Amino acid sequence: MGSRLVGYGAYLPDRIMTNTDFERIMDTTDDWIVSRTGIRQRHIARDDETVVDMAVIASQRALDNAHLTIDDIDMLIVATTTPELDFPSVGVQILGRLSATKNQPAFDVRGACTGYIYALHTARAFFTAGIHKRIMIVGAEKMSRFIDWGDRSTAVLFGDGAGALIFERSSSSYSGIIDTVVMADGTGFDMLHGTSDHKIIMNGPETYKRAVMSMPHAARYIMEHAGITANDVDWIIPHQANLRIIESCAQRLEFPLDKILVTVDKHANTSGASGVLALAYGFESGMIEHGQLILYPAFGSGLTWGAALIRV
Ligand code: ACO
Repeated sequence: MGSRLVGYGAYLPDRIMTNTDFERIMDTTDDWIVSRTGIRQRHIARDDETVVDMAVIASQRALDNAHLTIDDIDMLIVATTTPELDFPSVGVQILGRLSATKNQPAFDVRGACTGYIYALHTARAFFTAGIHKRIMIVGAEKMSRFIDWGDRSTAVLFGDGAGALIFERSSSSYSGIIDTVVMADGTGFDMLHGTSDHKIIMNGPETYKRAVMSMPHAARYIMEHAGITANDVDWIIPHQANLRIIESCAQRLEFPLDKILVTVDKHANTSGASGVLALAYGFESGMIEHGQLILYPAFGSGLTWGAALIRV
C-alpha cells in the first residue's frame, strides 16, 4: 500500500524584508549575510497574521490544486514549532476555519526544522496500515515571533510562510511517500533551542557541523534502503537553512548542484514549512515535473534529522 501526491499549495506573507532592510536596523551587511548564508530576503508576517492564517491559505490552495474540499481529507497533520496557542492544535483550527464537517482527526507534530519529515513519516505509517485514504500535510511557521531583533547572529536567518501537500492512498509503493526515516538526539539541546520568552539560543558553528553530517547521513540511509543511488534521484530538496550547508551536503553526497532545489535565498529558513514550501515552489516555477523522484533531507533543533523519498 502506497500513496500519490494529488495537490500542493503555498503561502508567503506579502511583506518582504531584504538584507538591506537589516542593514538599517542592526550592525550587518548584505555581503556578510549572502556570503555566510546565501539568504537575500525573507517574508515576514504582519503582527496580526498568525500561523493558522498562513496555514489556512496554503491548505485551501492545496485543496483547490487537487480539486478537493476539506471534507475529502481524512486526516490533517501540521508541522509547526511556532503556534500562537498551546491548544487546540493548529490542525484542528484549520479544520474549523475551513468548515470541515467530517470530524476527521487533525494534530500537530513538533520536529522543528525536521517537522515536515516527521509529518511525512507519520502519514506514511497511516497509508501503510491502510487506515486513511487522503492525508494533508501542512508546514506552517511564524519564525519572526522568535526573532530577537537585537541579535544579528540569528535574526537574519529566518522567515515566515506555510505550505501544504495532499497525498492519496494508492496501490503503488513506488509513488507518493515511498520511504521515510526520522532520527533524534536529545543531547544536542544546547546547540539550538527556543526559550519560553521567544528567543533563539544557537551555537551557529556547532549547528552547522551537525547539519552537514546529519542530512547526508539520512539521505544515504534512505537511498541504501530503497536500493537506489544519487543518479536515480531527479532533485534533492534539502531543508533550506543556509546555502553553504546545502552545498556541503551536495558535495558529500556527490550530487550535482544543478539538481539541488534552492529557495533559501528567497524564503530564508522557514523551519517546519521549508521543504513543503520548496516543493510547491519547484512545481510553480516549472522546475519539478510530475513523476520525478525527490530526496528530501532535513535537520533541526532537538536535534532532529531525517529524510523522505517521494515520487511526485
Ligand atoms: N552580520 C555581520 N556579522 C555577523 C552577523 C551578521 N548578521 N552574525 C554574526 N556575525 C559576526 C559574529 O559576531 C562573529 O564576529 P566576531 O568574529 O567579531 O566574534 C563573526 O560574524 C563570525 O561569527 P560565526 O558565528 O563564527 O560565523 P559563521 O561563519 O559560523 O556563520 C552562521 C554564522 C551563518 C550562523 C553559521 O554558523 C550557520 O549557518 N550555522 C547554522 C545555523 C543554522 O542554520 N541554524 C538554523 C536552524 S538549524 C537548521 O535549520 C539547520
